Amino acid sequence: QKDEKKEMAGIHELLSKLYHHLLTKTAHGKQALEYLVKRGFTEDVITRFQIGYAPPAWDTAVSFLQKREQSLLLAEQAGLLAKRQFDGKHFDRFRDRIMFPIHDRNGTVIAFGGRVLGDDEPKYLNSPETKIFQKGKNLYNLHAARPEIRKTQHAVVFEGYVDTIAAYRAGVLNGVATLGTSLTEEQAAVLKRNAQTVTICYDSDRAGVEAAFRASQILEKADCAVKIAQMPDGMDPDDYIQKYGSDKFVTDIIGASMTVMGFKIRYYRRGKNLRDEGERMLYIEEIIKEISALPKAVERDHYLRQIASEFNLSLDALKQQQGQMQRQFK
Ligand code: UTP
Ligand code: MN
Ligand code: MN
Ligand code: MN
Ligand code: MN
Repeated sequence: QKDEKKEMAGIHELLSKLYHHLLTKTAHGKQALEYLVKRGFTEDVITRFQIGYAPPAWDTAVSFLQKREQSLLLAEQAGLLAKRQFDGKHFDRFRDRIMFPIHDRNGTVIAFGGRVLGDDEPKYLNSPETKIFQKGKNLYNLHAARPEIRKTQHAVVFEGYVDTIAAYRAGVLNGVATLGTSLTEEQAAVLKRNAQTVTICYDSDRAGVEAAFRASQILEKADCAVKIAQMPDGMDPDDYIQKYGSDKFVTDIIGASMTVMGFKIRYYRRGKNLRDEGERMLYIEEIIKEISALPKAVERDHYLRQIASEFNLSLDALKQQQGQMQRQFK
């Protein structure tokens, strides 16, 4: 059982070296390398993240593993190969994809994420859940980012590897990613063990904003101090860095990340005309509801005052309304 896991990890290690070699040192990888360079990946980053390329052939990994007398069955169980129905022959699961090795917290490769070069679907293909890879327990890049996270007591969470790597290039060395799934309690617990503060930096699209909301709740439950970084509408960290550069990303996005309440305020404001009385009242009610859910009286007071002064309302009336909601909450 334990040896089996070791062997599975060993197969990943071998393949990540193969894919990296194919990308950086052979003609097979030429197009993929050009694609990466176009997206701003430098040689240094390609080496550091051990990025590779799986060619289009159906048997790159199969023949490589056979030559090295590795078990194809284990490679299949590790999510690297699939099996043809009619004759039981193995074939490569990852073909014609840029390969991002996914490490466990000790730096052992336990899975891959693969991205197509063009616009094919699915754009991203990750290893399935296996004996050595449980998505919800793992964070991309944690092994490399952990020293920096501990030192600064601050972690930044991205949606995926491309954003994590783009941010790394921009100088954000404490970035990790949840890999296309929503943040789990286990991941939050891992973050809490390594950092006081966690900044969520998801895509600024509908899915990303919703996911940031959910993640913030899970992180707060795990007792993390949570901040949320917001890109302009529709952008993700990689887009932003490409367009505005590293310095602006570090200062204007990561550095200017908001508290969860600030994020909610912005969220509820979006698309509302606050000059319109009805919309304004709706907005104030939504915010008061959020304020009621805050655990600390000092915080509740702070935001109530903010609303009172912004909309020129009596603090007493707001407090009264908030008190009513507070009782509903309990
Ligand atoms: P996105 O869907 O936002 O990728 O997923 P994107 O920004 O459009 O991709 P690019 O920039 O064109 O390459 C964000 C990240 O979530 C992970 C990937 O790591 C991806 O980089 N992801 C997404 C998965 O792991 N699996 C998925 O099915 C989708
Ligand atoms: Mn997308
Ligand atoms: Mn997105
Ligand atoms: Mn994105
Ligand atoms: Mn992107």
